[in-house]
Amino acid sequence: MPITPHGGALVNRLASEAERASLLEESKQLPHIAVDAYAAFDIDGIAKGLFSPLTGFMDAAETERVLDTMTLRPGVPWTIPILLPVSADTAAGIEPGGKIALDDDRGVTVAVMQVNEKFQFDRNHLVQQVYRTTDTNHPGVAYTLSRGDVYLAGPITALEARTVEHEHYNLTPEATRAAFAERGWRRIVAFQTRNPIHRAHEYLTKCALEICDGLLIHPLMGATKSDDIPGDVRMKCYHALLENYYPKEHVMLSIMPVNMRYAGPREAVMHAIIRKNYGCTHFIVGRDHAGVGNYYGSYDAHYIFDEIDPVALGITPLFFEHAFYSRRTNEMATKKTCPGTDADHVFLSGTKVREMLARGEAPPPEFTRPEVAEILIAWAAADRQTA
Ligand code: ADX
Repeated sequence: MPITPHGGALVNRLASEAERASLLEESKQLPHIAVDAYAAFDIDGIAKGLFSPLTGFMDAAETERVLDTMTLRPGVPWTIPILLPVSADTAAGIEPGGKIALDDDRGVTVAVMQVNEKFQFDRNHLVQQVYRTTDTNHPGVAYTLSRGDVYLAGPITALEARTVEHEHYNLTPEATRAAFAERGWRRIVAFQTRNPIHRAHEYLTKCALEICDGLLIHPLMGATKSDDIPGDVRMKCYHALLENYYPKEHVMLSIMPVNMRYAGPREAVMHAIIRKNYGCTHFIVGRDHAGVGNYYGSYDAHYIFDEIDPVALGITPLFFEHAFYSRRTNEMATKKTCPGTDADHVFLSGTKVREMLARGEAPPPEFTRPEVAEILIAWAAADRQTA
């Protein structure tokens, strides 16, 4: 039996061909609101059922419940509010009870929304609960506070799916579920990443694959901060790895068009729930999952799962400690699986790797496969030329 989507059923809020024509016609009479790429990705996520059981943007009561109890309703865990903020000026022209049309960052009318509520909220409480800080140096806090401070709530119907780079790999939850069934996979582990896959990532995925039938490498490809490595470079790295280091019959690569929130623990739970909707049964949570800077403890994203009802969550998290190459045992390991001291471990910080790449130096093969290092060096060199 495939895993049940979160809340019971996969949501599909994409208009059919017939609905689309009539909604487009109707949208001509409606107030239009321009939204940014971040909101456009959220619309797309709702429409395709990535965020099942959500059918639209959250209202004040749901937002409060999610922030304070980490549930959407009893028995349905949810950790990060999905909100549509607009400026006070924009909100002034919109009355609850009516519909609006949403135009994306590409100028395309992408959805029609039934506005059930217009509300304001204590945004310091919002960011404190989601990000565990109100520090505006945190990219998630900064972004949340930079957006409008009036929220529109209600169900949406999308007129079209958002296409992204590497659209061929942008499988919907329905499509990944069908692909798993076709392959006969019953236990499927998802790997979230916003980075190239280094040896530590590879180790986690392979340990997990030992106890599952299939591995879904599922890089996040929504909005990310500007100093994260671009999606097309990451895709090249994933292909190089799949070509050389993974068995094709047990691994699938697909992308997840969801914004990065950098919310650490709460985002780890959200990432797991989304992967459940994609049909995965297990989800990898390593060290400082979805973290940024020093805002979260290395294993806060593990501990948060103790506060979530595992049956209601439905997907099984697989927790991993900090992984590294051990020069003592000549293999990838964690402190749970090898003896020795830090001096025996090969581990490089993100900053250190960036510095090496900027100098045209390859990180050691114990840290990054040479094929991946080559792609990253070429990217860093091109980046230097355009800088
Ligand atoms: S994340 O924002 O998507 O979490 P990243 O792509 O670096 O960032 O990590 C992907 C997954 O690998 C996350 O579950 C993260 O916790 C885990 N991870 C990354 N590096 C390590 C490491 N050295 N040891 C253990 N887990 C790691």
